[in-house]
Amino acid sequence: MNYGPIIFLAAFLALATSWFGMVLKPTEQLGTMQQTNTVPGGALYPLGRPGLARQGAEIYRANGCAYCHSQQVGQEGSLARLVLSDLGTNQAAALRAVSAAAELSESDSRQLGSGLPRDLFTTRDKERADAAAKAINGAGAKATVWVVPIGPDETWGWGKRRSVAEDYLYEAPPMPGVLRVGPDLANVGVRLPDPNWHLRHLYAPNAVVPKSPMPPYRFLFEKRRLKGQRSPEALAVPVETGYEVIPTADARALVAYVLSLRQDEPLFDAPFTAPEPAPASTNAPGTTATNATTSATATNGPAAATAANPPAKQ
Ligand code: HEC
Repeated sequence: MNYGPIIFLAAFLALATSWFGMVLKPTEQLGTMQQTNTVPGGALYPLGRPGLARQGAEIYRANGCAYCHSQQVGQEGSLARLVLSDLGTNQAAALRAVSAAAELSESDSRQLGSGLPRDLFTTRDKERADAAAKAINGAGAKATVWVVPIGPDETWGWGKRRSVAEDYLYEAPPMPGVLRVGPDLANVGVRLPDPNWHLRHLYAPNAVVPKSPMPPYRFLFEKRRLKGQRSPEALAVPVETGYEVIPTADARALVAYVLSLRQDEPLFDAPFTAPEPAPASTNAPGTTATNATTSATATNGPAAATAANPPAKQ
């Protein structure tokens, strides 16, 4: 019997199905992906990287940073946190509604008026929190439901939410990484915003983080003899007397790239509630701006406290 046509058909089928599954389907799902909007906020996301950071991506690739660092935050689920921020004008009615909705004991509900905003309860059941918020808001008070992503990566402070496909829209190619010898870097620009920290860390990781196993990248720096005054660009790193260490253009580009790694916008498919700016004490126009900046850097809530201090740093 002539097996030729059967073998041909079998090979054709095997190739056709894998092409269908591995090329056509992914292209259909991801190939036409476009910028999305942050929710809430409605700002365009993501924005392309600035030029220097784009050059830095090539240095990151060339030096194999992705062998030790992933750029993808996972998430196991999320919690709904019911936060009471105002009791409104009819406090008695509001207090009754709050105690009923949040199932508070009498002594707890008596203390409610002091120290707002405060957490009423945290649950995995978002519908229960939504229903309670609706009941409380119906009585004239103000309660909001915060969505708080949870998982090991969030506990380590590596990100506020899971990474989604849109995060990699302008990466060519993306470097999500597979190994985590070092911390995940998907959101490192938010976590460690100081460019000098990164330069010193690249030159001598264990001078910045005691016992760091990360290899130093000295070849991205120029060690030169001091001529008269120290250059303003010289790094504050341990170096023999009579010498100074100057970052090269590559080091600066790499750090610009690392600082541009941010996945801190809430999206439709990866929601989380960013802490609201602290209420301004006065309504003078000049003070709003300063308040916004301080609250953006301030840590809010128990999860954020660890986010600012990843355990690796301590
Ligand atoms: C051999 C593995 C390895 C390689 C390669 C490596 N790193 Fe690291 N990196 C680590 C480890 C381990 C840490 C944690 C200790 C520390 O902070 O120094 C770390 C920490 C970091 C941190 C601090 C992150 C944080 O949240 O504390 C940054 C930023 C970083 N590395 C950037 C880079 C860049 C950029 C490159 C490529 C030039 C690179 N790393 C290459 C292992 C590596």
